Amino acid sequence: MRAVIMGPPGAGKGTQAKRLAEAFGMTHLSSGDILRAEKASGSDLGRKLKEYMDAGALVPDDVVVAIMAEAIAREAAGGLLLDGFPRTVAQAKTLDEQLAKLGKPLEMVLVIDVADSLIVERITGRRSCPKCKRPYHVKYLRPKNDNRCDDDATELEQRSDDNEATVSKRLAAYHAQTAPVIEYYTRAGKTPVVKVDGGGSPDEVTAGLRRVLERA
Ligand code: AP5
Repeated sequence: MRAVIMGPPGAGKGTQAKRLAEAFGMTHLSSGDILRAEKASGSDLGRKLKEYMDAGALVPDDVVVAIMAEAIAREAAGGLLLDGFPRTVAQAKTLDEQLAKLGKPLEMVLVIDVADSLIVERITGRRSCPKCKRPYHVKYLRPKNDNRCDDDATELEQRSDDNEATVSKRLAAYHAQTAPVIEYYTRAGKTPVVKVDGGGSPDEVTAGLRRVLERA
């Protein structure tokens, strides 16, 4: 299965993608994780990415497409779950073209539907493991040991863009630039677009997504 998982910032894309990728044997490719790794490397490109990401703005399409195309080409032969990409209609078109050339078209677009009112609390309470990227939440998904990853005991961190000021900019970018991607796939009619309620607990959302993938 080659699928995209979409939704507003903090909807639970990363949390759910990790679980689904494990359960359904897909490779989880998160554009956010890939861009953050480049940012952390301290390269010239990484410094440019930091300006966009810390401001809550989208990174320019040509930069993201180049970085993602490489990773997608490596992984498209097997199961693939794209998280955070595509995020603009231009990115979606480029992805369609790349997958068509590879003869591996997209099979499903999953949308986690979450009200804006829930987003600020989810994002400001997020912590994640810098080593394995597993996400936690100070209230909803707490680690077993105080501020340490359950898997590798690394101290959890808060992302530099996870603050109230940036969240509203990321939400605005989502509504203006990413929500039209859902419309793009719906109109094209080639790939099923399935919305799942993301307002419940993490386990409830996983159950909803699993039902969709099991029926596919
Ligand atoms: P990215 O890393 O993709 O950030 P995002 O889309 O803003 O999404 P998040 O990672 O914040 O949230 P998520 O939906 O994965 O939620 P999570 O599972 O962690 O992108 C970051 C930046 O990179 C962008 O702003 C942009 O600058 C750049 N970028 C990336 N891709 C790009 C692209 N394609 N084009 C251009 N620029 C790009 O959950 C959030 C929190 O809530 C966690 O603490 C979690 O534990 C908790 N939680 C999860 N589910 C639930 C639940 N059901 N109930 C309660 N809490 C929950």
